[in-house]
Amino acid sequence: MLGLGNVGQGVLRILSANASAIRDRIAARPVIKKILVRSLDKPREVEVDPALLTRDVDEVLSDPDIRVVVELIGGIEPARQYVLRALEAGKHVVTANKALLAECGEELFEVAARQGLDIYFEGSVAGGIPVLRALREGLASDRIDRVVGIVNGTSNYILDAMSRTGVSYARALADAQAAGFAEADPTLDVEGGDAAHKLALLTLVSVGVRVDPNAIPTEGITRVRPFDIRAADELGCVLKSLAIGDYRGEQPVVRVQTTFVPKSHVLAGVRGAYNAVAVSSEALGESMYYGKGAGMMPTGVAVVSDIIEVCRDIVGFTEGGPPPGAFRTIRGSAPGPLDA
Ligand code: HSE
Repeated sequence: MLGLGNVGQGVLRILSANASAIRDRIAARPVIKKILVRSLDKPREVEVDPALLTRDVDEVLSDPDIRVVVELIGGIEPARQYVLRALEAGKHVVTANKALLAECGEELFEVAARQGLDIYFEGSVAGGIPVLRALREGLASDRIDRVVGIVNGTSNYILDAMSRTGVSYARALADAQAAGFAEADPTLDVEGGDAAHKLALLTLVSVGVRVDPNAIPTEGITRVRPFDIRAADELGCVLKSLAIGDYRGEQPVVRVQTTFVPKSHVLAGVRGAYNAVAVSSEALGESMYYGKGAGMMPTGVAVVSDIIEVCRDIVGFTEGGPPPGAFRTIRGSAPGPLDA
Protein backbone atom coordinates (compact mmCIF):
# COMPACT_ATOMS: atom_id res chain seq x y z
CA MET A 1 0.00 0.00 0.00
CA LEU A 2 1.31 3.45 -0.87
CA GLY A 3 0.05 6.00 1.66
CA LEU A 4 -1.62 5.60 5.03
CA GLY A 5 -3.88 8.63 5.34
CA ASN A 6 -7.58 8.65 6.03
CA VAL A 7 -8.58 6.18 3.31
CA GLY A 8 -5.56 3.93 3.89
CA GLN A 9 -6.51 3.55 7.54
CA GLY A 10 -10.09 2.75 6.49
CA VAL A 11 -8.73 0.03 4.20
CA LEU A 12 -6.78 -1.56 7.07
CA ARG A 13 -9.85 -1.45 9.32
CA ILE A 14 -12.12 -3.08 6.76
CA LEU A 15 -9.58 -5.73 5.80
CA SER A 16 -9.16 -6.72 9.41
CA ALA A 17 -12.82 -6.46 10.48
CA ASN A 18 -14.08 -8.49 7.50
CA ALA A 19 -11.12 -10.83 7.08
CA SER A 20 -12.99 -14.10 7.36
CA ALA A 21 -15.90 -13.02 5.13
CA ILE A 22 -13.39 -11.86 2.51
CA ARG A 23 -11.52 -15.16 2.72
CA ASP A 24 -14.77 -17.07 2.21
CA ARG A 25 -15.71 -14.98 -0.78
CA ILE A 26 -12.50 -15.27 -2.73
CA ALA A 27 -10.83 -18.35 -1.29
CA ALA A 28 -7.75 -16.21 -0.76
CA ARG A 29 -6.48 -13.89 1.91
CA PRO A 30 -5.17 -10.48 0.89
CA VAL A 31 -2.18 -9.72 3.10
CA ILE A 32 -0.73 -6.24 3.46
CA LYS A 33 2.99 -6.69 3.11
CA LYS A 34 4.36 -3.13 3.16
CA ILE A 35 2.97 0.35 3.60
CA LEU A 36 4.81 3.37 2.25
CA VAL A 37 4.48 6.31 4.65
CA ARG A 38 6.07 9.73 4.98
CA SER A 39 6.56 9.45 8.71
CA LEU A 40 7.18 6.23 10.63
CA ASP A 41 6.11 7.48 14.03
CA LYS A 42 3.15 9.74 13.30
CA PRO A 43 0.20 8.94 15.62
CA ARG A 44 -2.56 7.15 13.68
CA GLU A 45 -6.15 6.22 14.41
CA VAL A 46 -5.64 2.55 13.58
CA GLU A 47 -3.10 0.24 15.11
CA VAL A 48 -0.50 -0.80 12.55
CA ASP A 49 2.34 -3.27 12.90
CA PRO A 50 5.40 -0.95 12.71
CA ALA A 51 7.27 -3.66 10.78
CA LEU A 52 4.92 -3.03 7.83
CA LEU A 53 5.86 0.64 7.52
CA THR A 54 8.58 1.87 5.23
CA ARG A 55 9.72 5.19 3.82
CA ASP A 56 11.42 3.51 0.89
CA VAL A 57 9.13 2.94 -2.10
CA ASP A 58 11.57 0.37 -3.54
CA GLU A 59 10.71 -1.96 -0.67
CA VAL A 60 7.22 -2.12 -2.17
CA LEU A 61 7.89 -1.92 -5.89
CA SER A 62 10.86 -4.29 -5.95
CA ASP A 63 9.29 -7.02 -3.83
CA PRO A 64 8.35 -9.88 -6.19
CA ASP A 65 5.87 -11.29 -3.65
CA ILE A 66 3.74 -8.16 -3.85
CA ARG A 67 1.13 -8.74 -6.57
CA VAL A 68 -1.05 -5.68 -6.05
CA VAL A 69 -0.11 -2.08 -5.32
CA VAL A 70 -2.81 0.06 -3.68
CA GLU A 71 -2.03 3.71 -4.40
CA LEU A 72 -3.55 6.09 -1.86
CA ILE A 73 -1.12 8.98 -2.01
CA GLY A 74 -3.35 11.22 -4.12
CA GLY A 75 -2.29 13.95 -6.56
CA ILE A 76 -0.28 13.43 -9.74
CA GLU A 77 3.37 13.12 -8.70
CA PRO A 78 4.90 11.00 -7.31
CA ALA A 79 1.78 8.80 -7.58
CA ARG A 80 2.13 8.61 -11.40
CA GLN A 81 5.75 7.47 -11.23
CA TYR A 82 4.98 4.86 -8.60
CA VAL A 83 1.97 3.48 -10.49
CA LEU A 84 4.01 3.26 -13.71
CA ARG A 85 6.80 1.46 -11.90
CA ALA A 86 4.31 -0.91 -10.26
CA LEU A 87 2.81 -1.79 -13.66
CA GLU A 88 6.23 -2.20 -15.25
CA ALA A 89 7.07 -4.57 -12.39
CA GLY A 90 4.00 -6.68 -13.22
CA LYS A 91 1.78 -5.59 -10.35
CA HIS A 92 -1.94 -4.82 -10.60
CA VAL A 93 -2.92 -1.41 -9.31
CA VAL A 94 -5.83 -0.30 -7.17
CA THR A 95 -6.25 3.44 -6.74
CA ALA A 96 -8.78 5.99 -5.53
CA ASN A 97 -6.89 8.78 -7.30
CA LYS A 98 -9.32 10.47 -9.68
CA ALA A 99 -6.93 13.30 -10.57
CA LEU A 100 -4.22 10.84 -11.60
CA LEU A 101 -6.52 8.70 -13.77
CA ALA A 102 -8.39 11.61 -15.32
CA GLU A 103 -5.17 13.47 -16.18
CA CYS A 104 -2.78 10.59 -16.99
CA GLY A 105 -5.17 7.68 -17.64
CA GLU A 106 -4.18 7.30 -21.28
CA GLU A 107 -0.56 6.58 -20.41
CA LEU A 108 -1.36 4.40 -17.39
CA PHE A 109 -4.06 2.26 -19.03
CA GLU A 110 -1.83 1.75 -22.05
CA VAL A 111 1.05 0.46 -19.93
CA ALA A 112 -1.37 -1.74 -17.96
CA ALA A 113 -2.81 -3.22 -21.17
CA ARG A 114 0.66 -3.85 -22.57
CA GLN A 115 1.57 -5.67 -19.37
CA GLY A 116 -1.70 -7.65 -19.25
CA LEU A 117 -2.59 -5.98 -15.96
CA ASP A 118 -5.57 -4.10 -14.61
CA ILE A 119 -6.07 -0.78 -12.87
CA TYR A 120 -9.05 -0.80 -10.49
CA PHE A 121 -10.49 2.54 -9.45
CA GLU A 122 -13.93 2.23 -7.89
CA GLY A 123 -12.96 4.51 -4.98
CA SER A 124 -12.10 7.36 -7.32
CA VAL A 125 -15.71 8.38 -8.05
CA ALA A 126 -18.41 8.83 -5.43
CA GLY A 127 -16.41 7.11 -2.66
CA GLY A 128 -18.18 4.03 -1.40
CA ILE A 129 -21.05 4.05 -3.90
CA PRO A 130 -20.34 1.26 -6.40
CA VAL A 131 -21.36 3.43 -9.32
CA LEU A 132 -18.47 2.61 -11.65
CA ARG A 133 -19.14 -1.08 -11.13
CA ALA A 134 -22.85 -0.49 -11.83
CA LEU A 135 -22.03 1.35 -15.06
CA ARG A 136 -19.38 -1.10 -16.18
CA GLU A 137 -21.01 -4.36 -15.16
CA GLY A 138 -24.62 -3.83 -14.09
CA LEU A 139 -25.39 -1.84 -17.22
CA ALA A 140 -22.95 -3.65 -19.53
CA SER A 141 -25.96 -4.90 -21.48
CA ASP A 142 -27.53 -1.47 -21.86
CA ARG A 143 -26.74 1.76 -23.69
CA ILE A 144 -26.01 4.61 -21.32
CA ASP A 145 -27.55 7.85 -22.57
CA ARG A 146 -26.81 10.24 -19.74
CA VAL A 147 -25.33 10.61 -16.27
CA VAL A 148 -26.14 13.50 -13.95
CA GLY A 149 -24.24 13.42 -10.71
CA ILE A 150 -23.63 15.19 -7.46
CA VAL A 151 -20.07 13.90 -7.18
CA ASN A 152 -18.36 16.50 -5.05
CA GLY A 153 -19.50 16.18 -1.44
CA THR A 154 -17.79 19.38 -0.35
CA SER A 155 -19.72 21.53 -2.84
CA ASN A 156 -22.96 19.81 -1.99
CA TYR A 157 -22.31 20.24 1.73
CA ILE A 158 -21.67 23.97 1.24
CA LEU A 159 -24.72 24.62 -0.95
CA ASP A 160 -26.93 22.53 1.33
CA ALA A 161 -25.70 24.31 4.48
CA MET A 162 -26.17 27.71 2.85
CA SER A 163 -29.75 26.94 1.86
CA ARG A 164 -30.83 25.11 5.02
CA THR A 165 -29.15 27.11 7.76
CA GLY A 166 -28.23 30.34 6.01
CA VAL A 167 -24.53 30.12 7.00
CA SER A 168 -22.03 31.98 4.86
CA TYR A 169 -20.05 30.31 2.11
CA ALA A 170 -16.80 30.69 4.10
CA ARG A 171 -18.25 29.11 7.25
CA ALA A 172 -19.73 26.18 5.32
CA LEU A 173 -16.38 25.58 3.58
CA ALA A 174 -14.53 25.61 6.91
CA ASP A 175 -17.02 23.05 8.30
CA ALA A 176 -16.55 20.82 5.25
CA GLN A 177 -12.77 20.97 5.67
CA ALA A 178 -13.02 20.20 9.38
CA ALA A 179 -15.22 17.19 8.58
CA GLY A 180 -12.37 15.87 6.44
CA PHE A 181 -13.98 15.41 3.04
CA ALA A 182 -12.56 18.49 1.30
CA GLU A 183 -9.43 18.00 -0.81
CA ALA A 184 -6.10 19.22 0.64
CA ASP A 185 -6.49 22.08 -1.83
CA PRO A 186 -10.22 22.89 -1.64
CA THR A 187 -9.98 24.88 -4.88
CA LEU A 188 -10.42 21.58 -6.69
CA ASP A 189 -13.70 21.04 -4.84
CA VAL A 190 -15.26 24.47 -5.03
CA GLU A 191 -14.09 25.36 -8.55
CA GLY A 192 -15.42 22.10 -9.96
CA GLY A 193 -12.07 20.51 -10.90
CA ASP A 194 -12.65 17.46 -8.71
CA ALA A 195 -16.10 16.95 -10.26
CA ALA A 196 -14.56 17.32 -13.75
CA HIS A 197 -12.04 14.57 -12.95
CA LYS A 198 -14.86 12.31 -11.79
CA LEU A 199 -17.00 13.15 -14.81
CA ALA A 200 -14.11 12.20 -17.10
CA LEU A 201 -13.98 8.79 -15.38
CA LEU A 202 -17.78 8.35 -15.44
CA THR A 203 -17.63 9.04 -19.18
CA LEU A 204 -14.77 6.62 -19.73
CA VAL A 205 -16.65 3.84 -17.96
CA SER A 206 -20.06 4.72 -19.48
CA VAL A 207 -19.09 4.99 -23.14
CA GLY A 208 -15.40 4.17 -23.33
CA VAL A 209 -14.45 7.69 -24.44
CA ARG A 210 -11.58 9.56 -22.84
CA VAL A 211 -12.23 13.25 -22.31
CA ASP A 212 -9.58 15.68 -21.15
CA PRO A 213 -10.83 16.96 -17.77
CA ASN A 214 -9.21 20.33 -18.49
CA ALA A 215 -11.41 20.68 -21.57
CA ILE A 216 -14.65 20.10 -19.65
CA PRO A 217 -16.56 23.37 -19.25
CA THR A 218 -16.52 23.73 -15.48
CA GLU A 219 -18.29 26.14 -13.19
CA GLY A 220 -17.64 26.11 -9.45
CA ILE A 221 -19.73 27.37 -6.57
CA THR A 222 -17.51 30.18 -5.34
CA ARG A 223 -19.73 32.91 -6.78
CA VAL A 224 -22.94 31.61 -5.22
CA ARG A 225 -24.44 34.25 -2.92
CA PRO A 226 -27.38 34.09 -0.48
CA PHE A 227 -29.35 35.98 -3.15
CA ASP A 228 -28.98 33.02 -5.55
CA ILE A 229 -30.07 30.58 -2.88
CA ARG A 230 -33.18 32.67 -2.17
CA ALA A 231 -33.95 33.07 -5.87
CA ALA A 232 -33.77 29.31 -6.34
CA ASP A 233 -36.07 28.80 -3.37
CA GLU A 234 -38.64 31.27 -4.73
CA LEU A 235 -38.66 29.32 -7.99
CA GLY A 236 -39.27 26.03 -6.13
CA CYS A 237 -35.68 24.91 -6.73
CA VAL A 238 -32.41 24.26 -4.92
CA LEU A 239 -28.91 24.96 -6.22
CA LYS A 240 -26.80 21.89 -6.93
CA SER A 241 -23.39 21.49 -8.47
CA LEU A 242 -23.94 18.85 -11.16
CA ALA A 243 -21.57 16.83 -13.31
CA ILE A 244 -23.48 16.14 -16.52
CA GLY A 245 -22.56 13.75 -19.28
CA ASP A 246 -24.83 13.41 -22.30
CA TYR A 247 -23.85 10.48 -24.49
CA ARG A 248 -26.67 10.43 -27.03
CA GLY A 249 -24.73 12.14 -29.79
CA GLU A 250 -21.62 11.07 -31.63
CA GLN A 251 -19.35 12.75 -29.06
CA PRO A 252 -20.04 13.01 -25.32
CA VAL A 253 -21.27 16.42 -24.22
CA VAL A 254 -19.92 17.03 -20.73
CA ARG A 255 -19.99 19.88 -18.24
CA VAL A 256 -19.88 20.71 -14.55
CA GLN A 257 -22.30 23.45 -13.62
CA THR A 258 -24.20 24.95 -10.74
CA THR A 259 -27.82 24.32 -11.60
CA PHE A 260 -31.33 25.14 -10.37
CA VAL A 261 -32.87 21.75 -9.59
CA PRO A 262 -36.64 21.55 -8.93
CA LYS A 263 -37.34 20.50 -5.36
CA SER A 264 -39.44 17.62 -6.69
CA HIS A 265 -36.40 16.09 -8.41
CA VAL A 266 -34.71 13.25 -6.58
CA LEU A 267 -31.30 14.98 -6.78
CA ALA A 268 -32.70 17.98 -4.87
CA GLY A 269 -33.01 15.83 -1.75
CA VAL A 270 -29.30 14.91 -1.65
CA ARG A 271 -28.11 16.40 1.61
CA GLY A 272 -24.77 17.27 3.15
CA ALA A 273 -21.69 15.57 1.75
CA TYR A 274 -23.69 12.74 0.17
CA ASN A 275 -23.23 11.92 -3.50
CA ALA A 276 -25.76 10.68 -6.05
CA VAL A 277 -25.52 9.73 -9.69
CA ALA A 278 -28.68 9.51 -11.78
CA VAL A 279 -28.23 7.42 -14.91
CA SER A 280 -30.49 7.17 -17.94
CA SER A 281 -30.00 4.12 -20.06
CA GLU A 282 -31.98 2.91 -23.01
CA ALA A 283 -33.44 -0.36 -21.76
CA LEU A 284 -33.49 0.14 -17.97
CA GLY A 285 -34.57 3.79 -18.03
CA GLU A 286 -33.74 5.84 -14.96
CA SER A 287 -31.58 4.42 -12.17
CA MET A 288 -29.94 6.13 -9.25
CA TYR A 289 -26.86 5.46 -7.12
CA TYR A 290 -26.73 7.23 -3.78
CA GLY A 291 -24.58 7.24 -0.67
CA LYS A 292 -21.48 8.55 1.06
CA GLY A 293 -19.05 9.90 -1.49
CA ALA A 294 -15.99 10.42 0.68
CA GLY A 295 -14.36 9.56 3.97
CA MET A 296 -12.27 6.88 5.63
CA MET A 297 -14.77 4.01 5.67
CA PRO A 298 -16.88 4.73 2.56
CA THR A 299 -13.88 5.10 0.25
CA GLY A 300 -12.18 2.26 2.16
CA VAL A 301 -15.10 -0.01 1.19
CA ALA A 302 -14.60 0.77 -2.50
CA VAL A 303 -10.84 0.22 -2.33
CA VAL A 304 -11.16 -3.10 -0.48
CA SER A 305 -13.82 -4.24 -2.99
CA ASP A 306 -11.29 -3.54 -5.73
CA ILE A 307 -8.65 -5.51 -3.82
CA ILE A 308 -11.12 -8.40 -3.60
CA GLU A 309 -11.81 -8.17 -7.33
CA VAL A 310 -8.15 -8.23 -8.24
CA CYS A 311 -7.59 -11.19 -5.88
CA ARG A 312 -10.47 -13.02 -7.57
CA ASP A 313 -8.79 -12.44 -10.92
CA ILE A 314 -5.44 -13.65 -9.62
CA VAL A 315 -6.96 -16.76 -8.03
CA GLY A 316 -9.02 -17.37 -11.18
CA PHE A 317 -6.14 -17.04 -13.60
CA THR A 318 -3.31 -18.67 -11.74
CA GLU A 319 -4.97 -21.43 -9.79
CA GLY A 320 -7.46 -22.42 -12.49
CA GLY A 321 -10.39 -20.79 -10.73
CA PRO A 322 -11.58 -20.63 -7.16
CA PRO A 323 -12.42 -23.94 -5.51
CA PRO A 324 -16.03 -25.10 -5.41
CA GLY A 325 -17.98 -23.28 -2.75
CA ALA A 326 -15.78 -20.19 -2.78
CA PHE A 327 -18.75 -18.06 -3.70
CA ARG A 328 -21.00 -19.47 -1.00
CA THR A 329 -21.46 -16.26 0.91
CA ILE A 330 -24.43 -17.00 3.20
CA ARG A 331 -23.13 -18.62 6.33
CA GLY A 332 -24.97 -19.65 9.43
CA SER A 333 -28.27 -18.04 8.46
CA ALA A 334 -31.48 -19.96 8.96
CA PRO A 335 -33.17 -20.82 5.66
CA GLY A 336 -35.81 -18.27 4.80
CA PRO A 337 -39.05 -18.98 2.97
CA LEU A 338 -37.38 -18.61 -0.42
CA ASP A 339 -34.62 -21.10 0.47
CA ALA A 340 -37.24 -23.66 1.45
N1 HSE B 1 -13.09 16.21 -1.96
C1 HSE B 1 -13.94 15.16 -2.45
C2 HSE B 1 -15.38 15.55 -2.21
C3 HSE B 1 -13.56 13.89 -1.76
O1 HSE B 1 -15.63 16.52 -1.49
O2 HSE B 1 -16.27 14.91 -2.74
C4 HSE B 1 -13.97 12.65 -2.45
O3 HSE B 1 -13.47 12.53 -3.74
